[in-house]
Amino acid sequence: MTTRTFPTAGEAAAALAGDVLNQIRARPALVLGLPTGRTPVAFYRALVRGIRRGGTSVADLTTFNLDEFLGVSPDQPGSYRGYMERYLFRPVGLGPAQINFLEGTAADPRLECERYERAITASGGIDVQVLGIGANGHIGFNEPGEWLVLHTHRVTLRPETRRTNAGLFGGHIDSVPREALSMGLGTILRARKIVLLATGREKARAVSLMVRGPLTTALPASFLQLHGDVDVVLDDAAGALLGDTTGAAAHL
Ligand code: GLP
Repeated sequence: MTTRTFPTAGEAAAALAGDVLNQIRARPALVLGLPTGRTPVAFYRALVRGIRRGGTSVADLTTFNLDEFLGVSPDQPGSYRGYMERYLFRPVGLGPAQINFLEGTAADPRLECERYERAITASGGIDVQVLGIGANGHIGFNEPGEWLVLHTHRVTLRPETRRTNAGLFGGHIDSVPREALSMGLGTILRARKIVLLATGREKARAVSLMVRGPLTTALPASFLQLHGDVDVVLDDAAGALLGDTTGAAAHL
């Protein structure tokens, strides 16, 4: 796992956007895995700017998003699909045939998860998976717990995760769904390359454990250490505890 630290969140997001832009230019038919959350907003803004400025074609790009709230349709406020339409898909003109999303309102969530796994395989697999990280060390919606699930699956969200997502639902935690569909740890680890963006002091503990802590289901992101090609892009605040893993591990 390599880490790069930048003085500000904006610089970290811009650096990651530059990397992804280079990947798209080098391989226009890239299969790109994408995250949501507050952190990637600056990344998407920089990516959209870069694509427009450079006249980069995204006509052959394929995308797969990590997760979606259960019971939430794409046009409902709070949906991750809506978020992606707003910050990336519409601004760069990605069409429905290029976009892959877990359907939160699927009649049978289990079948929907299986369909998604098959779609990833049929695309040839994810070339570059962009990730964020929750302050509790979750990736996608793979929450800390006694076990982790390998494939795309239905998850129960932890209260802290529902709280941090409340902004999407008018600031009310009670309006945030209790469940979601998410790629599993195995789905994520199958991506050929993984890049993770984390900014802000509240991510520092999770970041230090992810990079140098023990592999544990108590911190799902620690399993990224098993992957051979992970770039972690941080601002100074998120990287603040990188030298202090022993202390952070004591608080698992
Ligand atoms: C959500 C998403 C994750 C994301 C996390 C952190 O739970 N499912 O993919 O990494 O939020 O979000 P933020 O960037 O808002 O801290």
